Amino acid sequence: MNSETESLEDERKFIEGQERLLKIRMEKIRHKVAVISGKGGVGKSTVTVNLAVAFAMNGYRVGILDADIHGPSIPKMLGLSGNRLEVGPPGVFPAIGPFGIRVVSIDFLLPNEESPVIWRGPLKMAAIRQFLSDIVWGELDLLLIDLPPGTGDEPLSIAQLLPDMDGVIIVTIPSEVSQLVVKKAVNFARTLGLPIVGIIENMSGFLCPNCGARIDIFQSGGGERMAKEMSVPFLGRIPVDPRVCEDSDRGKPFIVECKDSPSSKAFMEIFKKIEDFLNQKEKR
Ligand SMILES: Nc1ncnc2c1ncn2[C@@H]1O[C@H](COP(=O)(O)OP(=O)(O)OP(=O)(O)O)[C@@H](O)[C@H]1O
Ligand SMILES: [Mg+2]
Repeated sequence: MNSETESLEDERKFIEGQERLLKIRMEKIRHKVAVISGKGGVGKSTVTVNLAVAFAMNGYRVGILDADIHGPSIPKMLGLSGNRLEVGPPGVFPAIGPFGIRVVSIDFLLPNEESPVIWRGPLKMAAIRQFLSDIVWGELDLLLIDLPPGTGDEPLSIAQLLPDMDGVIIVTIPSEVSQLVVKKAVNFARTLGLPIVGIIENMSGFLCPNCGARIDIFQSGGGERMAKEMSVPFLGRIPVDPRVCEDSDRGKPFIVECKDSPSSKAFMEIFKKIEDFLNQKEKR
């Protein structure tokens, strides 16, 4: 064997070892759900954080894997910016956020908030594999995975590394361009054989705080129409609320800070539908 074949062989063995470890770690996690979208900025990370908090408030042990390598935003939204991951003999420990939510993000490994990650696909796949194998997630009821927009390297890596994933949640906004990209996200999940938990229509109308009138900023009903057309469950609409953005920036979970708002109520109804989906799945 020449040295090049030897190093390829070493690499293969290393990856096999990691994948064995990954299997052991993942067996301790009852449910795994990824949050995807065709388009950027539609609220995936916001949905991930608020659903994680909803599950955690209801007694579930929850983890979040921030698989957005280039634009990690979960730590900031949960007030964990600047945290570092602790290393012990069994592996690397997640950071602990509100309600005991265990969080892992590339952000915890960067020298500062402004450092970009400049990586191609294979490196991103390696990082995600490491997040799933080296992190001591422990026993969890639910791992939510926040992904970057589109159907690129990160969602593909997750689909390959977690073939037993419970499903994906697709987030969209109601406008027409967004509906077209929803079709791509649905077809992506179908091509990879990932169950679709359902579609969420975020930024769906704005309720005027003064007069209560509803203003459809990005049109309305597109997500539900698309869900019907593609025969996918519709999980609900979350109205625009400026406090969603303010709370994200302050690192406070919106559904806790503004629990009586219509948007929080929408989140809680969506939480119940996802809980039902996961319970049904467990019975099968
Ligand atoms: N329902 C809402 N009402 C008001 N603001 C919202 C709502 N949902 C999300 N936002 C705001 O919109 C912006 C984009 O949301 P977020 O970062 O969650 O989207 P994303 O899909 O994760 O984006 P990216 O594609 O960049 O990962 C954030 O500033 C967030 O606070
Ligand atoms: Mg995001």
